[in-house]
Amino acid sequence: MKSEVDRVRTPAAPGFKSDFLPLLACPRCHGELRVTTAEEHDDAVREGHLDCAEGHSFPIQRGVPRFVESEWYAENFGFEWNVHNRTQLDSESSRESEDTFVEKTGFTKADLEGRLVLDVGCGMGRFSDVVSRWGATVVGIDLTTAVDAANANLGARPNVHLAQANVFELPFREGTFDYIFSIGVLHHTPNTKEAFDQLPKLLKPGGRIAIWLYSTRMLRWCWTSDFYRIFTTRLPKKTLHSLSRVAGPIYRLRKWLGPRSKRLDSLVFLLLPCSSHDNPEWRVLDTFDWYSPKYQWKHSDAEVRDWYQAHGLTELKSLEVETSLQGRRPLEA
Ligand SMILES: C[S@@+](CC[C@H](N)C(=O)[O-])C[C@H]1O[C@@H](n2cnc3c(N)ncnc32)[C@H](O)[C@@H]1O
Ligand SMILES: [Zn+2]
Repeated sequence: MKSEVDRVRTPAAPGFKSDFLPLLACPRCHGELRVTTAEEHDDAVREGHLDCAEGHSFPIQRGVPRFVESEWYAENFGFEWNVHNRTQLDSESSRESEDTFVEKTGFTKADLEGRLVLDVGCGMGRFSDVVSRWGATVVGIDLTTAVDAANANLGARPNVHLAQANVFELPFREGTFDYIFSIGVLHHTPNTKEAFDQLPKLLKPGGRIAIWLYSTRMLRWCWTSDFYRIFTTRLPKKTLHSLSRVAGPIYRLRKWLGPRSKRLDSLVFLLLPCSSHDNPEWRVLDTFDWYSPKYQWKHSDAEVRDWYQAHGLTELKSLEVETSLQGRRPLEA
């Protein structure tokens, strides 16, 4: 029987497009990369490798260049995005990802159309979907096999490029991108600030960056889930995913309690925090997403502002959603 992941990988996902090559650099020495093709389909490389003059070599597998050897601490996300490979993609009936993108980055279609954009921690590609529909060329990177789901979803678009890469060792030269965004990613790395520190230099002068992080305000209610997470982060992924279905009955209980007793409703949330999204699949995904990651740091607006200022970023704009901040790399003096 085919696993969930195998189902995502068939039929053959789109390949590595030749116009991605000039955007890439060796993540170790920043030298130029050359491509060697072992298998090609529709002018795109499905299997091959990328090599630099210093002898560093990176495989292209299933159409995606792989700059990491493993998913490191983030296997939960590889699992999550290959199971929920389309759950959060916009459709005729929902534009929730597009709305979330605008709320958390402040970037609009007019800003991004025709621009080169980096999506840091793209998951299965729901925000790369938005900006590529808006006419930007987007490069999505993720540490995990989530990029296989993103490639199946978006890789056939000429303006989408994907790579499996680590934010701490990115395969790009300085000054490459017009825009960079990262939504709900950097707080899941071993060190949020150090992850952020990798990004501003990749902007062209005058380029803009926006990130969204979990807020320290969540600490008011997440102490119970912090306790549960001591155990849930150690559970087998499939077991935790099945357990995340408890979000369904809790949602229904809260729907019933809400109009009757606000206090009881709040107590249920405090004791068993889980997603109360109206869509049942989102509830399971969001609950798994909360209880599975190894790292889940929280930050304040002031802290993130300091990081931006330390890089000389200007025109800082806090958005309505907590810990969402946009800034601009100044034009060279
Ligand atoms: C909560 S998901 C968010 C995905 C996507 N931005 C979204 O909102 O749908 C966090 C993502 O960050 C990725 N990630 C975690 N650590 C990373 C790292 N060091 N480098 C690149 N991606 C990383 C995970 O693999 C995961 O797909
Ligand atoms: Zn190299």
